[in-house]
Amino acid sequence: MDINLIKNIFKSLFGNELRVYTSPGRVNLIGEHTDYNGGFVFPGAIDKGIYAAINPNGTYKIRAYSIDYQAKAEFGMNEDDAPKESWARYIFGVVREMQKRGFEPKGFDTVFAGDVPLGAGMSSSAALESTFAFALNDIYNLGIDKFELARIGQSTEHNYCGVKCGIMDQFASIFGKKGHLMRLNCATMEFEYFQFDPKGYKVVLLDTVVKHELASSAYNKRRESCENACAHIAAKHPEVKYLSDATMLMLEEVKNEISQEDYMRAKYVIGEKQRVLDVCAALEKGDYETVGDRMYGTHYGMSKEYEVSCDELDFLNDIAKECGVTGSRVMGGGFGGCTINLVKEELYDKFIATAKEKFNKKFGHYPKVYDVVISDGARKLNL
Ligand code: GLA
Repeated sequence: MDINLIKNIFKSLFGNELRVYTSPGRVNLIGEHTDYNGGFVFPGAIDKGIYAAINPNGTYKIRAYSIDYQAKAEFGMNEDDAPKESWARYIFGVVREMQKRGFEPKGFDTVFAGDVPLGAGMSSSAALESTFAFALNDIYNLGIDKFELARIGQSTEHNYCGVKCGIMDQFASIFGKKGHLMRLNCATMEFEYFQFDPKGYKVVLLDTVVKHELASSAYNKRRESCENACAHIAAKHPEVKYLSDATMLMLEEVKNEISQEDYMRAKYVIGEKQRVLDVCAALEKGDYETVGDRMYGTHYGMSKEYEVSCDELDFLNDIAKECGVTGSRVMGGGFGGCTINLVKEELYDKFIATAKEKFNKKFGHYPKVYDVVISDGARKLNL
């Protein structure tokens, strides 16, 4: 990322005094659509993120310039003075969610840009929220703990961006640690860092460059299905608070009470819980074959049961299988974006070349390729 460009634009628009903050996107090895079901996720922060130059301006207004959109927005700090630009609502939402919790950030000027691809399932929006949540907390000494910073980002998605997301993306963006994945229990928010250095393997993302317009409403609908299935199970088993607490047997008991669709969604979530646990056990033994096998299992579930895949993602998954890639699956919310692939080093070149060629032949454009580098979470840059 060209930090000097951000600094120079800031200086030309707002003056010389500034600080720069960044927060990254994330990958997730396994545990998809489990966060809002009280299950486990296994993300890590990546070396791509949002970078913002920022300085208090002594008013109660926010003046923001997005380098990527080449657009300026000016807005206040209450609901009557909200921005119309969708990118600015992420910043406004963070400010409002802080205020709702009793914290009092003041006005500021900012210029920001990012190198985390938009809509590719790498959480560019969480990176944006986390950058501003972290920065405002630091600048105004608000004393908000890191979990609450993540929740502020999550509530911003819920209340200002229309996505009823879980906590995984904001958590990973704030808590990320170089070389480590994090296993988070989303019911209790307990987590552990796992050193992740799969010797002899590479982790690579293949981006379909497909963005699905209806992704957020479809995402919210998946969540409703899960909550409905969970409510039926909980009526018989009060100990079940989240769908991830339920077993397949419990789901079978309510099969005739819920729609076939809700049943399939719940089946995926309950299956995914076991796959995450299998992967954790396998990682401790360095058993990457099992890790990869469960990744394929997740892809199947997300494609056939949860139905959040698409032709392009399924195609990439098939190619991975054909090329002998150890593990491959759609990553993140789905409906487009990337597959995450665990591939033996000696197969890497052949796999990438084959995937590019075949994908282009079928869909008329190349997938993008991103090597995964697990990096640190939200921070202030030393200028
Ligand atoms: C999106 C959401 C997350 C999570 C994933 C799916 O990235 O923001 O909270 O639900 O989808 O695992």
